[in-house]
Amino acid sequence: MPRDVDMDILDVPALHSAARTSGPRPRRLRRTAALRSLLGETRLDARQLIHPLFVRAGRGIERPIESMPGHTQRSVDRLAVEIDDVGALGLPSVLLFGLPGEKDDTGSGAWDATGPVPQAIASIKRRASEIVVIADVCLCEYTSHGHCGVLDAETGAVANDATLPLLARAAVAYADAGADIVAPSAMMDHQVAAIRAALDDAGHSEVAILSYAVKYASAFYGPFRDAAESAPAFGDRRAYQLDPSNVREALREAALDVAEGADMLMVKPAGPYLDVVRRVREQFDLPLVAYQVSGEYAMLKAAAERGWLDERRAVLESLVGIRRAGADVIITYFAKDAAQWLRDES
Ligand code: PBG
Repeated sequence: MPRDVDMDILDVPALHSAARTSGPRPRRLRRTAALRSLLGETRLDARQLIHPLFVRAGRGIERPIESMPGHTQRSVDRLAVEIDDVGALGLPSVLLFGLPGEKDDTGSGAWDATGPVPQAIASIKRRASEIVVIADVCLCEYTSHGHCGVLDAETGAVANDATLPLLARAAVAYADAGADIVAPSAMMDHQVAAIRAALDDAGHSEVAILSYAVKYASAFYGPFRDAAESAPAFGDRRAYQLDPSNVREALREAALDVAEGADMLMVKPAGPYLDVVRRVREQFDLPLVAYQVSGEYAMLKAAAERGWLDERRAVLESLVGIRRAGADVIITYFAKDAAQWLRDES
């Protein structure tokens, strides 16, 4: 567009042509890749990504997860390849989910020292002691009904206070096995306090708690429930997870978890909740983790497989957006891909 037309549209009073061309021009700083790289405000770094793993009871098992292409349920004896990839790509940390041999009403597999998660923790620590091992603490993978806590015999609702000692037991089992961090995700009130007290009593005062403080009742967990075989057999999780329309409630949840002794906070999902990430970042000083969940992964994967999106660009854009919103660290099923792409770029 000729400059004169431009100025006419803006109805700017006559300016000297010199003045017209000498003002701010943001494009100056976008001219070359080197300039853009120099001036990038937000960096993506493999050192701030966490790689989730699904560990299944048994031996010799590698079962691809259909709704999460590229991810596989593995028995502990088949984890080595993942651990070696994580090390080679410079990823610092893994987050473990377990699929037990058997489920029951109380989810007792969650604290079985011979279960998949404690065994995986020990095996990872033997193979690569520097990897930060985080264990998800919840009952939904271990209960026959698929809820995140035990059920009240009379009402059938998830019983908050009866669930707390069970979560605490699971956390201690993972700490005993060598976990660096436990990450309670059941959304029971006071779970952080219960776990902190149990860890301290068991001599694990050095084990940190990453609280899923702000976990929404989200449709974007769909593929995960296939992966972890943890879909509730009846009802949903709206009586314990947050309502997607709320942000003040998210800040209250985070404040309670800070008071209860959380070392790190999490917002989950990430992409649809970037405003929440920002608000939590502004209000709290603890390290903030955002979880780009299974449904976010599946959407990007599906569109990329159809050729509707450029996978690499779309994924890196989604991750830098989460960092820009205020997350220090991102849990993402793209961790290995992103680490590889970032390496190729540098
Ligand atoms: C366990 C748990 C869930 C996720 C992480 N921990 C599922 C749920 O609450 O239903 C979801 C992760 C994802 O979708 O990637 N409670």
